[in-house]
Order: sequence, then C-alpha cells, then structure tokens
Amino acid sequence: MSQILRAVRGMNDTVPPIADRWRRVEADITRVLGQYGYREIRFPIVESTQVFARSIGDTTDIVQKEMYTFEDRNGDSLTLRPEGTASCVRAVLENGLLKAGTQRLFYLGPMFRHERPQKGRYRQFHQVGVEALGMAGPDIDAELILMTARLWQVLGLQDLRLELNTLGTPESRALHREQLVAYFTGHLDLLDEDSRHRLTRNPLRILDSKNPALKALIEGAPRLVDFLDAESRDHFDAVRVVLDAAGIAYTVNPHLVRGLDYYSKTVFEWITEALGAQGTVCAGGRYDGLVDQMGGRATPAIGFAMGLERLMELLPPAREEDLPEAELYVIGAGMEEKAAALALAEAVRDALPGVRVLCHCGQESLKSQLKRADRSGAAVALILGSDELAAGQVTLKPLRGQGEQRRVERHALMEHLLGLLGAA
Ligand code: HAM
Repeated sequence: MSQILRAVRGMNDTVPPIADRWRRVEADITRVLGQYGYREIRFPIVESTQVFARSIGDTTDIVQKEMYTFEDRNGDSLTLRPEGTASCVRAVLENGLLKAGTQRLFYLGPMFRHERPQKGRYRQFHQVGVEALGMAGPDIDAELILMTARLWQVLGLQDLRLELNTLGTPESRALHREQLVAYFTGHLDLLDEDSRHRLTRNPLRILDSKNPALKALIEGAPRLVDFLDAESRDHFDAVRVVLDAAGIAYTVNPHLVRGLDYYSKTVFEWITEALGAQGTVCAGGRYDGLVDQMGGRATPAIGFAMGLERLMELLPPAREEDLPEAELYVIGAGMEEKAAALALAEAVRDALPGVRVLCHCGQESLKSQLKRADRSGAAVALILGSDELAAGQVTLKPLRGQGEQRRVERHALMEHLLGLLGAA
C-alpha cells in the first residue's frame, strides 16, 4: 500500500459530525442576516490579482506576503481570494447592482492567506462577510454593529468585547501620517526591523505592531483622534449614541487601525480572550473610497467579516457531537427483502420528510446489520425478514429503550413510526 496523501499545511478537512455543526451555525448566521434584509452574493474564489492589489493596499501584509498568486496557463496573474470585500465590490460593479440603489449583501466561503498556521490562524479559513453599499450615514454603521451583537446572542457566545475607532477621512489621515512619521523618525533606534520597514511605506501599521517592546513608544505616538475633521468626529459620535442607547458595551481603541488600506471613518473589532493571540473573531469598517478606487461611481460603504473557525472554537462543546447518523435504520434480511426495504424507505421519506432514513446496503447477517444499526445512533430499526414480507408486516425494534420490539401492519407503519420517533 502506498502512503496516504495529506492536506496542504494550514488547510483543514471538516468531517462529520463537525461539518453538521458548521452547517447549523452557518444557517443560524444567515437567518439573522436575513432578518436585517441582507441577501447572498456569490463570486469566484479566484480573481485577477489586480482586484486585490488595487484595493487591499500594496504595502499591506496581505498583498506583500500572504496572497496565493500564480500564473494560469495563459500567463495571467490570478490570486486565490484572501478576503471578500474586494471581490464583492468588483462583482457589484460588474453586475451593475448599484443602479438599483443601496445594497445589503453577504457572502460565505473559504479565503486563503499564506500566514504561519497556528490555533485560530489557517491558510484556508472561512468567513461570513457582510457589505452594505450606498449608505453614508452613521445609522448603517450602528445597525451593522447591532446585528453582530444579535449574532453573538443567537449563537450563545459570551465574553466578546467590542473595540471601536474612527480613521477619519483621507485628509485627516494624511495630516496624522505626517506627524506620525516625524515622531517615529525621532525614535528610529527604538523601532524593530518590521516597523522601520513600515515607517516609509505604511507608518499607520506600526500602531498595529504586536511587539511588546514597542508598546510604550506606540502609546506616546500622535493620535489620529487629535487630527480628525469635524464630520468624521460627528459621524463617530452618532454611531456611539445608538450603541449607548442599545446598551452595547465597547471601548474606543485609538490604536485600532486594521490590516487593510481601504478603511475610512468607523472601524471595529469583536475580540475574545479565549483564543490567545488570534482573538479577533469579527472585524470591519467603513470604506467610502473603495468603490471609486475600483472604477465605480463614488459610493459610501461599510462591512465586516467574521472568521468561522474562530467562532466554532468559541462555541460550547456541542451535544450534537453525538447526533445520530439517522433516526431510522432499515434492514432487509436477504436480497428479496432488501429490494422491498428500499421501496419502504422511499415511502417513509415521502410520508415523514423530517426523518432521516438509513438503509443498510450490503450482504451482512441480520446480527451484524443490527449491530451497525445500534452504532448509527438511530432510535429505531425497521426489519424486513421473509416472514414479514409474506405477511405484509414489518418489525420495529426500538434501539433506545422505548419499549419492546413489535410487528406491525405495513399500512399502519407511519403511525407507529411517528409514535416511536416522537418519543425518541
Ligand atoms: P480581516 O480582519 O482581514 O478583514 O478578516 C476578518 C476576520 O477573518 C478576522 O477577524 C478573523 O476572524 C478571520 N481571519 C482572518 N485571517 C484569518 C486566518 N488566517 N485564519 C482564520 N481566520 C482568519 C477582512 O477580511 C475584511 N474583508 C472585512 C471587511 C468586510 N471589512 C469590510 N467589509
């Protein structure tokens, strides 16, 4: 036998029953998004590299070090999407969705970043992303955050804290940037190599450094808040008024800058202490300049994305882990009975669509079929032997202590099943 092949490092399989759990969580999330009028948009996993380079920012870690970029057979440069916002805006523009006015959209699926894998950080990970386009006011910012708070409540997640900041307009950021460069240039000897590199290319990102040695220096740096224009300040205050009124707790973190360049005004992150260094489970903000930058008519927009792996890690250990493979396990004693059993299983699926029916396929003895039925976790085994077949009956064997095995008439089967499975 040759060696089994393995998945690529940082990319994971999701097997049953964990995949069932993912599906349920995704359904819960998309149901809540639907309550706010968000509709699904789907776009390709691969885009031309330009889509990301033009939007996320040339000097960001994502574009510089983390993208899966390759040439296809035509020599075109393509990239596996590292995030969804850029693709979403590209798709919105290409399909002319903004002609119909504002858009509230969500997407769900794998993203790819060549980061160093560790707990909560993978090379293929999954996001649910939300983008609201065409709305300039603080009301949509606040509504998005209220929606995230509802998501945590529905998912049963506690202990997430909200951090907020405003990045102002490009003009206020330019002023701040000048002062920041002057400040850090005055302290060059204290900067690490990464920060020195950022100083010329993207000094705001120095504020994002996780190096503890830089903490004091960063705390003393000029703060963007002191350079904010009046409109950005008012916008931010208005967001806070709604959150305060709704009783949503948050801290304003002036150092929250985000790792993508397209943001302006409101930015936010939901953070947990339970996942160590990879504690941000949901992050986003306003990106009023991006649609214009990507070739559309200037359109305000805001969105966020949550990392599903991180969310799943936070969920309490699920009882569903022991979920049965099916509720009803159907067994035919021999080949003739199996043919009848398959037809019977179809009839059960017609009559009781909520019941999952697993037919034993294979030539095993009755005993080993029953063993397998038990292992499946099903509540009831339906057994069709030659006697039953001849008599127009079936045997129902409760597997989870709901009484004795019984023989029932074929025409009364559904009633009996309802009784047994209802009680299961
Ligand atoms: P982001 O902060 O890069 O933002 O990613 C959003 C979330 O995706 C993170 O908070 C985290 O939960 C998850 N995530 C990111 N990288 C990884 C990874 N390597 N492994 C596991 N989870 C990860 C964006 O992607 C923006 N597009 C969000 C946005 C939408 N802003 C506006 N609209």
